[in-house]
Amino acid sequence: MSTTLSARYRTAFVTGASTGLGLAFAEMLLAEGVQVWGTARDLKRLPARAGFHPVALELSDGAAAETAFLAAEGAAGGFDLVINNAGFGAFGAFAETDFAVWQRQIEIMLVNTARLGHIALRGMLRRNRGALVNVSSLAAEFPLPYQSAYNLVKAGLSALSESLILETRGTGIIVIDFRPGDYRTDF
Ligand SMILES: NC(=O)c1ccc[n+]([C@@H]2O[C@H](COP(=O)([O-])OP(=O)(O)OC[C@H]3O[C@@H](n4cnc5c(N)ncnc54)[C@H](OP(=O)(O)O)[C@@H]3O)[C@@H](O)[C@H]2O)c1
Repeated sequence: MSTTLSARYRTAFVTGASTGLGLAFAEMLLAEGVQVWGTARDLKRLPARAGFHPVALELSDGAAAETAFLAAEGAAGGFDLVINNAGFGAFGAFAETDFAVWQRQIEIMLVNTARLGHIALRGMLRRNRGALVNVSSLAAEFPLPYQSAYNLVKAGLSALSESLILETRGTGIIVIDFRPGDYRTDF
C-alpha cells in the first residue's frame, strides 16, 4: 500500500534549497503536499511556490543559523523532517592550503551542520516524532583527491548520524545517514 509523504510529514526544513539536491528534495516534498521551509544565503535564489517558506541561512555563522532555524521551527509549529543538505566543496592540496581556510570548511560544514542537527533533534525529542537526514557523501568511504577537508567533513557527518541512529533507537525518531554518489548539480 502506498502512502503520501504528507501522511507522515506535515512540515520539513531543508537547508540549501536554492539549487541541486536541496531544491530537488524541496520540490519532491511540495509535490507530496508537505509544507517546506527551505534555506539559501540569498533569499532571491529560492523558489516562489505555494507551500514553500523561504529562510535566509548562512552556515558560516553557527549562532545565526541556529536562530534562523528556531524562528522557522516556531512558525512551522515543529518540523517533522529536517534535511541537513547545504554544503560546498573546496579543492586544494592539504599542505598547500592555508590551514585557517581548511579549518573553516570543517567549522562551516561539519560543526555548524551538527549544530543544526543538535537543535533539530531536541525539538523532535520533545515532540517524540520526526526524522533527521544528514546529507553526507560516498566521499565518507571513498575520499576524493585534493578534497581532504570535504572528505573529513563527510566522514564526520556520517559518524555523527550513525551515533544518533544508536541514541534514538526506541524513540519515535528516525535518523538517516544519506551518502549520495555523483549528481550533476552546481556543486
Ligand atoms: N552533487 C553531488 O554529486 C553530491 C554527491 C554527494 C554529496 N553531495 C552533497 O549534497 C549536498 C548538496 O549538494 P549539491 O550537489 O546539491 O550542491 P549545490 O547545487 O552547489 O547546492 C548547494 C546548496 O548549499 C547551499 N550552501 C552552500 N554554501 C552554503 C553556506 N555557507 N551556507 C548556507 N548554505 C550554503 C547553497 O545555497 P546558496 O544559494 O546560498 O549558494 C545551495 O543551495 C552537499 O552537502 C553535498 O556535499 C552532493
